[in-house]
Amino acid sequence: MISLPAWPVATARETELLEKVLASPQWGGFNAIVGEFEQKFAAYQGCQFGVSAVNGTVTLEMMLSCAGIQPGDEVIVPAISFVSTATAVSRIGAVPVFVDIEPLSFNMDPSVVRAALSPKTRALIAVHFGGPLADVDALGVFCREHGLLFFEDAAHAHGSEWNGKRAGSFGLASSFSFQNGKVMTAGEGGIVLTSDEALAARLRSYANQGRRPGHSFFHHFEIGNNYRLTALQAAVLTAQLERLDGQIERRTANWRVFQDELAGAPGIRWQTIPRQVNRSAWYLVLGRVEEGRDAAVERWNAAGIPASPFYPHPLYGNPVYTGGHAPCRVMPCPNAEAYIRDAFWIGFRALMGDKDTTRAVARCIRG
Ligand SMILES: Cc1ncc(COP(=O)(O)O)c(C=O)c1O
Repeated sequence: MISLPAWPVATARETELLEKVLASPQWGGFNAIVGEFEQKFAAYQGCQFGVSAVNGTVTLEMMLSCAGIQPGDEVIVPAISFVSTATAVSRIGAVPVFVDIEPLSFNMDPSVVRAALSPKTRALIAVHFGGPLADVDALGVFCREHGLLFFEDAAHAHGSEWNGKRAGSFGLASSFSFQNGKVMTAGEGGIVLTSDEALAARLRSYANQGRRPGHSFFHHFEIGNNYRLTALQAAVLTAQLERLDGQIERRTANWRVFQDELAGAPGIRWQTIPRQVNRSAWYLVLGRVEEGRDAAVERWNAAGIPASPFYPHPLYGNPVYTGGHAPCRVMPCPNAEAYIRDAFWIGFRALMGDKDTTRAVARCIRG
Protein backbone atom coordinates (compact mmCIF):
# COMPACT_ATOMS: atom_id res chain seq x y z
CA MET A 1 0.00 0.00 0.00
CA ILE A 2 1.44 3.36 -1.05
CA SER A 3 1.27 5.94 1.70
CA LEU A 4 0.48 9.45 0.44
CA PRO A 5 0.44 12.70 2.45
CA ALA A 6 -2.90 13.64 3.98
CA TRP A 7 -4.99 16.55 2.74
CA PRO A 8 -5.98 19.11 3.93
CA VAL A 9 -3.01 20.11 6.04
CA ALA A 10 -2.81 22.79 8.74
CA THR A 11 0.44 24.03 10.28
CA ALA A 12 1.37 26.28 13.19
CA ARG A 13 0.74 29.23 10.84
CA GLU A 14 -2.97 28.42 10.52
CA THR A 15 -3.13 28.10 14.32
CA GLU A 16 -1.35 31.41 14.83
CA LEU A 17 -3.70 33.30 12.49
CA LEU A 18 -6.79 31.56 13.82
CA GLU A 19 -5.82 32.44 17.38
CA LYS A 20 -5.53 36.09 16.39
CA VAL A 21 -9.04 36.01 14.96
CA LEU A 22 -10.40 34.14 17.97
CA ALA A 23 -8.88 36.74 20.30
CA SER A 24 -10.59 39.53 18.34
CA PRO A 25 -14.19 40.68 18.70
CA GLN A 26 -14.94 39.91 15.02
CA TRP A 27 -15.02 36.32 13.80
CA GLY A 28 -17.27 37.07 10.85
CA GLY A 29 -16.77 38.72 7.50
CA PHE A 30 -16.04 42.22 8.80
CA ASN A 31 -12.64 41.39 10.29
CA ALA A 32 -9.85 43.14 8.33
CA ILE A 33 -8.18 39.78 7.62
CA VAL A 34 -10.92 39.01 5.08
CA GLY A 35 -10.15 42.07 2.95
CA GLU A 36 -6.43 41.48 3.36
CA PHE A 37 -6.75 37.94 2.12
CA GLU A 38 -8.90 39.06 -0.83
CA GLN A 39 -6.22 41.57 -1.83
CA LYS A 40 -3.39 39.04 -1.47
CA PHE A 41 -5.15 36.38 -3.50
CA ALA A 42 -6.26 38.81 -6.22
CA ALA A 43 -2.66 40.10 -6.54
CA TYR A 44 -1.35 36.51 -6.60
CA GLN A 45 -3.58 35.73 -9.58
CA GLY A 46 -2.79 39.03 -11.34
CA CYS A 47 -6.11 40.77 -10.70
CA GLN A 48 -6.92 44.05 -9.00
CA PHE A 49 -9.94 43.09 -6.90
CA GLY A 50 -11.18 40.05 -5.01
CA VAL A 51 -14.60 39.53 -3.45
CA SER A 52 -14.78 36.40 -1.34
CA ALA A 53 -17.90 34.39 -0.53
CA VAL A 54 -19.07 31.21 1.11
CA ASN A 55 -18.18 28.82 -1.72
CA GLY A 56 -17.18 28.54 -5.35
CA THR A 57 -20.73 27.90 -6.54
CA VAL A 58 -22.11 31.11 -5.11
CA THR A 59 -19.13 33.01 -6.54
CA LEU A 60 -19.98 31.78 -10.06
CA GLU A 61 -23.57 32.90 -9.63
CA MET A 62 -22.53 36.29 -8.21
CA MET A 63 -20.07 36.80 -11.04
CA LEU A 64 -22.65 36.17 -13.76
CA SER A 65 -25.42 38.08 -12.08
CA CYS A 66 -23.36 41.17 -11.19
CA ALA A 67 -21.88 41.24 -14.72
CA GLY A 68 -25.42 41.64 -16.02
CA ILE A 69 -26.33 38.20 -17.37
CA GLN A 70 -30.13 38.22 -17.61
CA PRO A 71 -32.82 35.52 -17.58
CA GLY A 72 -33.02 34.01 -21.07
CA ASP A 73 -29.44 34.92 -22.01
CA GLU A 74 -27.33 32.03 -23.29
CA VAL A 75 -23.94 31.22 -21.78
CA ILE A 76 -21.56 28.81 -23.50
CA VAL A 77 -20.05 26.27 -21.08
CA PRO A 78 -18.01 23.09 -21.56
CA ALA A 79 -19.91 19.79 -21.42
CA ILE A 80 -17.34 18.55 -18.90
CA SER A 81 -17.00 20.29 -15.55
CA PHE A 82 -18.39 20.13 -12.04
CA VAL A 83 -22.11 20.84 -12.15
CA SER A 84 -21.84 24.35 -10.65
CA THR A 85 -20.40 25.76 -13.89
CA ALA A 86 -23.79 25.09 -15.49
CA THR A 87 -26.20 25.40 -12.58
CA ALA A 88 -24.85 28.87 -11.70
CA VAL A 89 -26.04 29.90 -15.17
CA SER A 90 -29.40 28.19 -14.64
CA ARG A 91 -29.94 29.61 -11.15
CA ILE A 92 -30.05 33.14 -12.52
CA GLY A 93 -32.52 32.08 -15.22
CA ALA A 94 -29.99 32.04 -18.05
CA VAL A 95 -29.47 29.06 -20.36
CA PRO A 96 -26.27 27.00 -20.47
CA VAL A 97 -25.21 25.96 -23.97
CA PHE A 98 -23.01 22.89 -23.70
CA VAL A 99 -20.11 22.53 -26.12
CA ASP A 100 -17.55 19.79 -26.59
CA ILE A 101 -14.06 19.55 -25.14
CA GLU A 102 -10.89 18.76 -27.09
CA PRO A 103 -9.84 15.11 -27.49
CA LEU A 104 -7.04 15.20 -24.91
CA SER A 105 -6.73 18.58 -23.16
CA PHE A 106 -9.94 18.00 -21.13
CA ASN A 107 -10.83 21.64 -21.92
CA MET A 108 -13.33 23.48 -24.11
CA ASP A 109 -12.64 23.13 -27.83
CA PRO A 110 -12.32 26.63 -29.35
CA SER A 111 -13.02 25.21 -32.82
CA VAL A 112 -16.63 24.33 -31.94
CA VAL A 113 -17.76 27.44 -30.05
CA ARG A 114 -18.76 29.42 -33.14
CA ALA A 115 -21.43 26.86 -34.01
CA ALA A 116 -22.99 27.39 -30.58
CA LEU A 117 -23.71 31.08 -31.15
CA SER A 118 -27.29 32.35 -31.29
CA PRO A 119 -28.76 35.84 -31.09
CA LYS A 120 -29.18 35.21 -27.33
CA THR A 121 -25.52 34.34 -26.61
CA ARG A 122 -24.11 36.77 -24.03
CA ALA A 123 -21.14 35.04 -22.43
CA LEU A 124 -18.74 32.10 -22.29
CA ILE A 125 -17.24 30.38 -19.25
CA ALA A 126 -13.88 28.64 -19.73
CA VAL A 127 -13.05 25.98 -17.14
CA HIS A 128 -9.38 25.12 -16.55
CA PHE A 129 -9.94 21.44 -15.93
CA GLY A 130 -7.48 19.84 -13.53
CA GLY A 131 -5.24 22.95 -13.49
CA PRO A 132 -3.90 23.53 -17.05
CA LEU A 133 -5.70 26.45 -18.69
CA ALA A 134 -8.17 26.16 -21.52
CA ASP A 135 -7.06 27.98 -24.68
CA VAL A 136 -7.68 31.48 -23.31
CA ASP A 137 -6.14 33.10 -26.39
CA ALA A 138 -8.54 31.53 -28.88
CA LEU A 139 -11.55 31.76 -26.56
CA GLY A 140 -10.76 35.38 -25.67
CA VAL A 141 -10.53 36.35 -29.35
CA PHE A 142 -13.83 34.56 -30.05
CA CYS A 143 -15.54 36.45 -27.22
CA ARG A 144 -14.16 39.80 -28.37
CA GLU A 145 -15.20 39.17 -31.98
CA HIS A 146 -18.76 38.38 -30.96
CA GLY A 147 -19.20 40.87 -28.13
CA LEU A 148 -19.48 38.17 -25.46
CA LEU A 149 -18.43 38.47 -21.84
CA PHE A 150 -15.52 36.11 -21.11
CA PHE A 151 -15.46 34.42 -17.70
CA GLU A 152 -13.18 31.81 -16.15
CA ASP A 153 -14.22 29.10 -13.72
CA ALA A 154 -10.76 28.71 -12.20
CA ALA A 155 -11.83 26.42 -9.35
CA HIS A 156 -8.98 24.03 -10.29
CA ALA A 157 -6.35 26.59 -11.27
CA HIS A 158 -4.91 28.45 -8.26
CA GLY A 159 -1.46 29.57 -9.42
CA SER A 160 -1.79 28.13 -12.96
CA GLU A 161 -0.35 30.23 -15.80
CA TRP A 162 -0.70 30.69 -19.55
CA ASN A 163 2.36 32.39 -21.08
CA GLY A 164 3.31 33.70 -17.64
CA LYS A 165 -0.10 35.22 -16.89
CA ARG A 166 -2.15 33.73 -14.08
CA ALA A 167 -5.49 31.95 -14.39
CA GLY A 168 -8.42 34.16 -13.57
CA SER A 169 -6.94 37.28 -15.16
CA PHE A 170 -7.98 36.72 -18.78
CA GLY A 171 -11.66 37.62 -18.87
CA LEU A 172 -13.96 40.13 -17.24
CA ALA A 173 -14.02 38.07 -14.05
CA SER A 174 -13.16 34.64 -12.66
CA SER A 175 -14.28 32.37 -9.87
CA PHE A 176 -12.20 30.16 -7.55
CA SER A 177 -13.23 27.55 -4.99
CA PHE A 178 -11.62 26.84 -1.61
CA GLN A 179 -13.68 23.72 -0.94
CA ASN A 180 -12.09 20.96 1.15
CA GLY A 181 -10.44 19.08 -1.73
CA LYS A 182 -9.01 22.09 -3.53
CA VAL A 183 -5.29 22.99 -3.53
CA MET A 184 -6.03 25.85 -1.11
CA THR A 185 -8.83 25.30 1.33
CA ALA A 186 -10.68 26.50 4.38
CA GLY A 187 -13.14 23.61 4.20
CA GLU A 188 -15.44 25.82 2.13
CA GLY A 189 -15.03 29.20 0.47
CA GLY A 190 -14.75 30.96 -2.86
CA ILE A 191 -13.71 34.22 -4.46
CA VAL A 192 -14.48 36.26 -7.57
CA LEU A 193 -11.56 38.14 -9.09
CA THR A 194 -11.77 41.03 -11.53
CA SER A 195 -9.85 44.12 -12.53
CA ASP A 196 -13.07 46.01 -13.28
CA GLU A 197 -13.65 48.39 -10.37
CA ALA A 198 -17.37 48.92 -10.97
CA LEU A 199 -17.98 45.16 -11.18
CA ALA A 200 -15.98 44.64 -7.98
CA ALA A 201 -18.18 47.21 -6.20
CA ARG A 202 -21.37 45.49 -7.40
CA LEU A 203 -20.05 42.09 -6.29
CA ARG A 204 -19.12 43.42 -2.86
CA SER A 205 -22.53 44.95 -2.38
CA TYR A 206 -24.35 41.83 -3.60
CA ALA A 207 -22.42 39.57 -1.20
CA ASN A 208 -23.04 41.97 1.68
CA GLN A 209 -26.81 42.52 1.76
CA GLY A 210 -26.85 45.27 -0.86
CA ARG A 211 -24.82 47.64 1.32
CA ARG A 212 -22.60 50.36 -0.12
CA PRO A 213 -19.49 51.90 1.41
CA GLY A 214 -20.08 55.21 3.16
CA HIS A 215 -23.75 54.51 3.91
CA SER A 216 -25.59 53.31 6.98
CA PHE A 217 -25.28 49.62 7.87
CA PHE A 218 -29.07 49.45 7.55
CA HIS A 219 -29.29 51.03 4.13
CA HIS A 220 -29.68 48.37 1.41
CA PHE A 221 -29.52 49.41 -2.24
CA GLU A 222 -30.36 46.11 -3.92
CA ILE A 223 -31.52 42.56 -3.23
CA GLY A 224 -28.27 41.25 -1.85
CA ASN A 225 -27.50 38.31 0.37
CA ASN A 226 -25.13 37.41 3.16
CA TYR A 227 -22.45 35.47 1.30
CA ARG A 228 -19.56 36.71 3.44
CA LEU A 229 -16.53 34.50 4.06
CA THR A 230 -15.72 34.38 7.79
CA ALA A 231 -12.51 35.67 9.36
CA LEU A 232 -11.79 32.11 10.50
CA GLN A 233 -11.79 30.96 6.87
CA ALA A 234 -9.70 33.94 5.77
CA ALA A 235 -7.12 33.13 8.47
CA VAL A 236 -6.79 29.56 7.23
CA LEU A 237 -6.66 30.66 3.58
CA THR A 238 -3.96 33.24 4.29
CA ALA A 239 -1.76 30.48 5.67
CA GLN A 240 -2.65 28.16 2.77
CA LEU A 241 -1.73 30.84 0.21
CA GLU A 242 1.67 31.31 1.85
CA ARG A 243 2.47 27.62 1.20
CA LEU A 244 0.92 27.34 -2.26
CA ASP A 245 4.05 28.18 -4.32
CA GLY A 246 6.12 25.54 -2.54
CA GLN A 247 3.38 22.96 -3.03
CA ILE A 248 3.07 23.78 -6.73
CA GLU A 249 6.84 23.37 -7.08
CA ARG A 250 6.63 19.96 -5.45
CA ARG A 251 3.74 18.85 -7.65
CA THR A 252 5.49 20.15 -10.77
CA ALA A 253 8.68 18.25 -9.93
CA ASN A 254 6.67 15.11 -9.20
CA TRP A 255 4.66 15.56 -12.41
CA ARG A 256 8.00 15.36 -14.28
CA VAL A 257 8.94 12.18 -12.41
CA PHE A 258 5.53 10.84 -13.32
CA GLN A 259 5.99 11.69 -16.98
CA ASP A 260 9.47 10.12 -17.09
CA GLU A 261 8.18 6.92 -15.54
CA LEU A 262 5.06 6.76 -17.67
CA ALA A 263 6.24 8.06 -21.03
CA GLY A 264 5.30 5.47 -23.60
CA ALA A 265 3.36 3.33 -21.12
CA PRO A 266 0.86 1.46 -23.23
CA GLY A 267 -2.87 1.86 -22.88
CA ILE A 268 -3.07 5.34 -21.29
CA ARG A 269 -3.28 8.72 -23.01
CA TRP A 270 -2.44 11.52 -20.59
CA GLN A 271 -3.92 15.01 -20.62
CA THR A 272 -2.04 17.09 -23.17
CA ILE A 273 -0.62 20.29 -21.71
CA PRO A 274 -0.56 23.18 -24.22
CA ARG A 275 2.93 24.67 -24.57
CA GLN A 276 1.52 28.03 -23.37
CA VAL A 277 0.78 26.49 -19.95
CA ASN A 278 4.07 27.24 -18.20
CA ARG A 279 2.70 26.48 -14.71
CA SER A 280 -0.19 24.41 -13.38
CA ALA A 281 -1.76 23.94 -9.98
CA TRP A 282 -1.78 20.20 -10.80
CA TYR A 283 -5.11 19.79 -9.04
CA LEU A 284 -5.79 16.56 -10.95
CA VAL A 285 -3.73 14.12 -12.95
CA LEU A 286 -5.94 13.23 -15.92
CA GLY A 287 -5.90 10.54 -18.53
CA ARG A 288 -7.86 8.17 -20.73
CA VAL A 289 -7.54 4.38 -20.65
CA GLU A 290 -7.89 2.51 -23.91
CA GLU A 291 -9.49 -0.52 -22.32
CA GLY A 292 -10.70 -1.54 -18.85
CA ARG A 293 -10.81 1.86 -17.16
CA ASP A 294 -12.91 0.75 -14.16
CA ALA A 295 -10.73 -2.26 -13.41
CA ALA A 296 -7.59 -0.11 -13.67
CA VAL A 297 -9.01 2.47 -11.25
CA GLU A 298 -9.97 -0.30 -8.80
CA ARG A 299 -6.46 -1.71 -8.96
CA TRP A 300 -4.94 1.73 -8.32
CA ASN A 301 -7.34 2.40 -5.45
CA ALA A 302 -6.36 -0.92 -3.86
CA ALA A 303 -2.74 0.27 -3.93
CA GLY A 304 -3.69 3.51 -2.14
CA ILE A 305 -3.79 5.81 -5.20
CA PRO A 306 -6.68 8.33 -5.06
CA ALA A 307 -7.98 7.63 -8.57
CA SER A 308 -11.56 7.94 -9.71
CA PRO A 309 -13.43 7.05 -12.88
CA PHE A 310 -14.62 10.15 -14.68
CA TYR A 311 -18.03 11.83 -14.23
CA PRO A 312 -20.96 9.47 -14.95
CA HIS A 313 -22.24 11.77 -17.71
CA PRO A 314 -21.53 15.08 -19.43
CA LEU A 315 -23.15 17.99 -17.57
CA TYR A 316 -26.20 17.88 -19.84
CA GLY A 317 -26.81 14.24 -18.81
CA ASN A 318 -27.64 15.27 -15.23
CA PRO A 319 -31.31 14.84 -14.30
CA VAL A 320 -31.53 18.60 -13.71
CA TYR A 321 -31.11 19.03 -17.47
CA THR A 322 -32.57 15.79 -18.86
CA GLY A 323 -35.64 16.09 -16.64
CA GLY A 324 -36.62 19.48 -17.99
CA HIS A 325 -36.04 21.27 -14.65
CA ALA A 326 -33.77 23.79 -16.32
CA PRO A 327 -33.60 24.69 -20.00
CA CYS A 328 -30.33 24.17 -21.83
CA ARG A 329 -29.00 23.75 -25.33
CA VAL A 330 -26.64 20.90 -26.24
CA MET A 331 -24.20 21.00 -29.13
CA PRO A 332 -22.71 17.74 -30.47
CA CYS A 333 -20.22 16.50 -27.84
CA PRO A 334 -18.63 13.26 -29.12
CA ASN A 335 -15.39 13.84 -27.21
CA ALA A 336 -17.14 14.55 -23.90
CA GLU A 337 -19.19 11.37 -24.32
CA ALA A 338 -16.08 9.32 -25.03
CA TYR A 339 -14.33 10.70 -21.92
CA ILE A 340 -17.26 9.49 -19.82
CA ARG A 341 -16.46 5.95 -20.93
CA ASP A 342 -12.68 5.96 -20.62
CA ALA A 343 -11.28 8.92 -18.63
CA PHE A 344 -10.11 9.04 -15.02
CA TRP A 345 -8.61 11.47 -12.57
CA ILE A 346 -6.08 11.08 -9.79
CA GLY A 347 -6.23 13.56 -6.93
CA PHE A 348 -3.22 15.82 -6.37
CA ARG A 349 -2.21 13.98 -3.19
CA ALA A 350 -0.53 11.56 -5.59
CA LEU A 351 1.93 14.36 -6.44
CA MET A 352 2.53 15.55 -2.86
CA GLY A 353 4.89 12.82 -1.65
CA ASP A 354 8.65 12.54 -2.14
CA LYS A 355 10.20 11.39 -5.43
CA ASP A 356 10.33 7.71 -4.41
CA THR A 357 6.66 7.76 -3.50
CA THR A 358 5.81 9.38 -6.82
CA ARG A 359 7.85 6.74 -8.63
CA ALA A 360 5.96 4.03 -6.75
CA VAL A 361 2.63 5.59 -7.81
CA ALA A 362 3.77 5.77 -11.44
CA ARG A 363 5.03 2.18 -11.46
CA CYS A 364 1.78 0.93 -9.99
CA ILE A 365 -0.13 2.76 -12.72
CA ARG A 366 2.13 1.30 -15.35
CA GLY A 367 1.25 -2.15 -13.98
C1 LIG B 1 -14.90 23.45 -11.87
C2 LIG B 1 -15.60 23.73 -10.58
N1 LIG B 1 -16.40 24.81 -10.50
C3 LIG B 1 -17.06 25.11 -9.37
C4 LIG B 1 -16.95 24.33 -8.24
C5 LIG B 1 -17.77 24.67 -7.06
O1 LIG B 1 -17.06 25.01 -5.95
P1 LIG B 1 -17.64 24.82 -4.47
O2 LIG B 1 -17.57 23.35 -4.16
O3 LIG B 1 -16.72 25.65 -3.64
O4 LIG B 1 -19.03 25.33 -4.46
C6 LIG B 1 -16.12 23.20 -8.29
C7 LIG B 1 -15.89 22.33 -7.16
O5 LIG B 1 -16.09 21.90 -6.25
C8 LIG B 1 -15.44 22.88 -9.47
O6 LIG B 1 -14.66 21.80 -9.56
